Amino acid sequence: MTEPRVRVYRSLEELSIAAAAAIAEELRIAAERSGEATIALSGGDTPRMLHRLLAQRHETVPWARVHVYWGDERYVPHDDPRSNYRLARDTLLDCVPLTAAWVHPMPTDAPDPDDAAGAYQRLLEDEFGGLPRFDVMIMGLGEDGHTASLFPGSPAVDEELRWVVPAEATDAPMQRLTMTLPVLRNARALHFLVVGVEKREALVRALAKPSRSCPASLARPTEGTLTWWVDEAAAGHPAGEGSTQR
Ligand code: 6PG
Repeated sequence: MTEPRVRVYRSLEELSIAAAAAIAEELRIAAERSGEATIALSGGDTPRMLHRLLAQRHETVPWARVHVYWGDERYVPHDDPRSNYRLARDTLLDCVPLTAAWVHPMPTDAPDPDDAAGAYQRLLEDEFGGLPRFDVMIMGLGEDGHTASLFPGSPAVDEELRWVVPAEATDAPMQRLTMTLPVLRNARALHFLVVGVEKREALVRALAKPSRSCPASLARPTEGTLTWWVDEAAAGHPAGEGSTQR
């Protein structure tokens, strides 16, 4: 299992600039290698600046050859302000020359979220022909140690067969859909973006020995790379040059 590579920056802006450059290059290389690239986006506030920077790099990222997915979604209409799909549309997707049919939002209109989870799994099966291996997955970290919508104590954290399941948020009760750890572990490149002193304790736990009490600590690629893009406030120490192997 891959060891985390931790990169500490003075600010959200600096880490977003560095992460955007790395992710843009990974997408460019993936598209060059196989003609297409795949990215799974997260929700939350932290990736907003990253999205805007990736949108400004539309010359280097072959967006028309990128399939866009979501690692999790709030179970609300896609035009709801809480929707991760809407967040991505507003901050990235409406600004780049995508292939519309290659944007794959999680469905949130089925009366039963479990049916929606099953539909997205079938989409992934059709697109990947087996366990999805995303070229890039963008992840966040909650103060409780959650990532995607894998919350501490949730059965979704233990799911090893299904790739997409319904989940209940515990930080703000809301039905969600989430990809599961088998998918996260199969990624070619997993990128966590974490800022703020309020995330410091969760970050320490996420980088420590993997534990079910901190689902983010379990999200370690089997073969792919794992990079934590963090600011000084979350890291609890000044920005270092380059990465800190742990
Ligand atoms: C979501 C995200 C979630 C998020 C973390 C961090 O749908 O909310 O997928 O996992 O990444 O809660 O959110 P912030 O970036 O807002 O701190």
